[in-house]
Amino acid sequence: MLFPKQRPWNLPEQDAAPESAWTNRRQLLLAAGFGLAGWAGTEHDLAAQAVPASGAFRNGKRNPAFTRPDISPEAAATGFNNFYEFTTDKQQVRNSVGRFQTQPWQVEITGLVNRPMKLDLDEMGRRMQQEERVYRFRCVEAWSMVVPWTGFPLADLIRMVEPKPEARFVRWWTAYRPKEMPGMVQQPWYKWPYYEALRMDEAMNPLTLVATGIYGKPLPKQNGAPVRIVVPWKYGFKSIKSVVKIEFVKNQPSTFWNDAVPAEYGFYANVNPKRPHPRWSQATDKRIPTMDVEPTQPFNGYADYVAAMYKGNEI
Ligand code: MTE
Repeated sequence: MLFPKQRPWNLPEQDAAPESAWTNRRQLLLAAGFGLAGWAGTEHDLAAQAVPASGAFRNGKRNPAFTRPDISPEAAATGFNNFYEFTTDKQQVRNSVGRFQTQPWQVEITGLVNRPMKLDLDEMGRRMQQEERVYRFRCVEAWSMVVPWTGFPLADLIRMVEPKPEARFVRWWTAYRPKEMPGMVQQPWYKWPYYEALRMDEAMNPLTLVATGIYGKPLPKQNGAPVRIVVPWKYGFKSIKSVVKIEFVKNQPSTFWNDAVPAEYGFYANVNPKRPHPRWSQATDKRIPTMDVEPTQPFNGYADYVAAMYKGNEI
């Protein structure tokens, strides 16, 4: 067992829809013929199985254990972005994504798993219990936001594909679409497509989200539509956008920024106010859009949930 059965942020019972809602939903799915539909390349009829994990259907409800009063304005989170496939101008990403086709979308899950699959995004949305979590988000460039994400724990997806015991890391790739992503063509020196990875225990940590939305709406393209990873205790570059492929592997994979500038960006990239970036301090961050300065917290404030995973020498 990698984490306690009773997650501390489970929704209180009264917030959850009754079991009957879940059952009806399942019957509807079955009646609508969702079996193999949407699941190319797998023989498993997952619609005939229970929806994963802990019980009730709780689609999109805010998780009270992860909420804060200081949510950043939506216009800030959707208008100030890092998405180098489009442009390095943070305020122009949203104006550069017009050609990016995010529907239909498939995520291939492969490598050291018993149940490899190609997962249609609609099916993923129907199958996984979505919830909203308000997380701090801290970029390595020393700016931060507080974002309400909609999504589900990556651990739920991992359990579904049944990793083999030798799987020790999970890696993922963003879409490779030079015709739709002008930044790829303008910056040919990077090793596209963008790729990232986590150790298996980090991927299974219940804080790690597969996000499909923000502010109660589907993810905008500039924020990584239609599906991205969110790892709130790490610098933002670990939170890879627009994921098309997930692979379970034995050895520690290379990562995009660590390959590009190894002296500045490590594999682990845990938020650490005491470890300065070679070119700037990480002791404080500026909240977008007010630019209010606040002290950066170890693990971005999530130490209670994640610090035990580390010995202290991971960079
Ligand atoms: N994913 C891809 N594919 N390409 C990127 O350039 N930038 C990363 C991360 N994920 C990036 C990416 C960085 S540096 C940050 S800070 C966050 O996305 C920014 O996410 P946001 O624009 O939703 O705030």
